[in-house]
Amino acid sequence: MKKFSNVKGLFVLLFALILLLAACGSTDESGSNSDAENNETEETSDENAEQSESETTGEAGEKLVIGFSQVGAESEWRTANTKSIQNAIKDAGHELKFSDAQQKQENQIKAIRSFITQKVDAIVFSPVVETGFETVLQEAKDAGIPVFLADRAVDVEDDSLWVTFLGSDFVEEGRKAGRWLVEEMSDQEGPVNIVELQGTVGSAPAIDRKEGFEEIISGKDKFEIIKSQTGDFTRAKGKEVMEAFLKSEGENIDVLYSHNDDMAIGAIQAIEEYGLKPGEDIKIIGVDAVKGAFEAMAAGKMNVTIECNPLFGPQLVDLIERHFEGEELDKRIAVEESMYTMDQAEELLPTREY
Ligand code: AHR
Repeated sequence: MKKFSNVKGLFVLLFALILLLAACGSTDESGSNSDAENNETEETSDENAEQSESETTGEAGEKLVIGFSQVGAESEWRTANTKSIQNAIKDAGHELKFSDAQQKQENQIKAIRSFITQKVDAIVFSPVVETGFETVLQEAKDAGIPVFLADRAVDVEDDSLWVTFLGSDFVEEGRKAGRWLVEEMSDQEGPVNIVELQGTVGSAPAIDRKEGFEEIISGKDKFEIIKSQTGDFTRAKGKEVMEAFLKSEGENIDVLYSHNDDMAIGAIQAIEEYGLKPGEDIKIIGVDAVKGAFEAMAAGKMNVTIECNPLFGPQLVDLIERHFEGEELDKRIAVEESMYTMDQAEELLPTREY
């Protein structure tokens, strides 16, 4: 009887040892997640919660773990874009790891490194600025993790560091703004004094929208950009900088060209507080076509907005899946876009999705 209970005791001990070893193994795996940044959140659908390693290998048709490093939440446009991408990833049954960079490049670099440590299958990356990402993108490539650029491009020599870019043609958006202005002012004698609210310094949309606009007005002597400064794509800064423009140039200003609608909306407030009529005394051009711009246009306070469509989440996820199915993707894929004027605003406002 004693002998039997000794053998039984040995079995119990062995079983406990096996349990202990298994527990150690799983601590190691989840331990890698502790590298995640504070601003990083994991959004996992229920059925993914118990995901085994073989389910996340990133092969065709498999569930993927996708790290998404977003610029921030600086504008209406950005909020709509974040939702579109997050929903598309989750709706397709993939696992999302999300990080909001709060418009800081160093946060994005940390987030991408954290995604690499966590061995995600793919990284979606919308860079705050164009330059300075070579090293971290090389690290992703060395780890065998494909990077998909969403919305904004990077300026790197080696374009094998990313799979494809899906987003808008920002230069063309700037051209559209310039063409609208040239047409609108065709009967007007010069000078036409323009103030410009630029987006985030060093960002692709700020660089490209400026370039496209200047390309159209250059050589046409009556147009002059008399002031140009960044408003960092936010309403608060747009208002602040417009106040400064008004202080130094006052009624000299004929046109505001704003690199996004949020800054234009902030500027409209500054113009009204100054005692001028936005949309009449000062023509207002914005970019994005967010609801707020349609409201301002319907109220006669803004003249035109150039569309920049943020709702490309489903298209992006489709591209990621096609990559994992072995398809060779084009290096640049453009989102189709339009332009809307004041007279269309009231009719279109109820149909706007963002
Ligand atoms: O990169 C797209 C730009 O970024 C949008 O025009 C702007 O609103 C956003 O913040």
